[in-house]
Amino acid sequence: MYNLLKGKKGIIFGALNEQSIAWKTAQVCFKEGAELVLTNAPIALRMGEINKLSAECNNAPVIPADVVNMDDLKKLFDESMKHFGGGIDFILHSIGMSLNVRKGKSYTEIDYNFNQKTLDISAMSLHRVLRTAWDMDALNESASVLALTYIAAQRVFPDYNEMADAKALLESVARSFGYYYGVRKKVRVNTVSQSPTKTTAGSGVKGFDGFMSYAEKMSPLGNASAEDCANYCALLFSDYAKMVTMQNLFHDGGFSLTGVTTQVIEQMEK
Ligand SMILES: NC(=O)c1ccc[n+]([C@@H]2O[C@H](COP(=O)([O-])OP(=O)(O)OC[C@H]3O[C@@H](n4cnc5c(N)ncnc54)[C@H](O)[C@@H]3O)[C@@H](O)[C@H]2O)c1
Repeated sequence: MYNLLKGKKGIIFGALNEQSIAWKTAQVCFKEGAELVLTNAPIALRMGEINKLSAECNNAPVIPADVVNMDDLKKLFDESMKHFGGGIDFILHSIGMSLNVRKGKSYTEIDYNFNQKTLDISAMSLHRVLRTAWDMDALNESASVLALTYIAAQRVFPDYNEMADAKALLESVARSFGYYYGVRKKVRVNTVSQSPTKTTAGSGVKGFDGFMSYAEKMSPLGNASAEDCANYCALLFSDYAKMVTMQNLFHDGGFSLTGVTTQVIEQMEK
């Protein structure tokens, strides 16, 4: 460990269980010297798993917040700032949820009410989080905000369904808010576009296992794990990335720029 985040204070959204990318990121940030507040939707906290993570992170407070409820978000920032005795240096937005995928509706037959909720929870929620921080002036100078995304925002992956549109919107919000927050307070806002990863949200995608092994064969470095992603997030939260903002950063072992690999060609010739 390098003490990359010594003295920094951060809020981690979305640690559901030990597989969660947010869970691994909290562990790395803590080891790198950060103080944390953990948050998730009240229903996700009911299982109580997160208390294990909190105990590992010097009893980090666990504050419930439904990310589409502005009162919850205000309370979260308020309590976090009281706990830290000041402003916040980094935020991880690690939240995704598709109602149409859950209800088994394909892209061509989506229900638009479900779709609105999907876009709100998975994408506009980043705006809600940033807006709350903006209104409360909760972020310190050069703070770093990251949201997790997927390459289906740029290219078609049929079973990713409406989440592709949600991720495109999420990346756009990161760029747009990143502009305003950069000018106002040098705050950085980026998205990390992660390889397919076996988690609760990931496994919700149809044909996920086949898809994961395809991505593995299509990536010169192989798929990036949740642990690798956590390390990258910690780096981006640190001062070493303080001039990086409004970017969509691929963390995918090279998948995004690979046309084909010999492994895939050999498979096709069988
Ligand atoms: N797993 C993958 O293959 C993969 C790949 C690229 C990007 N991502 C993204 O990474 C992020 C984290 O997902 P994960 O794979 O760790 O799965 P996960 O299921 O562990 O995490 C998703 C989290 O979203 C939270 N959430 C859902 N609705 C919420 C709400 N209304 N308010 C607050 N929180 C809410 C859940 O409680 C859960 O903790 C997501 O944005 C996901 O799209 C995942």
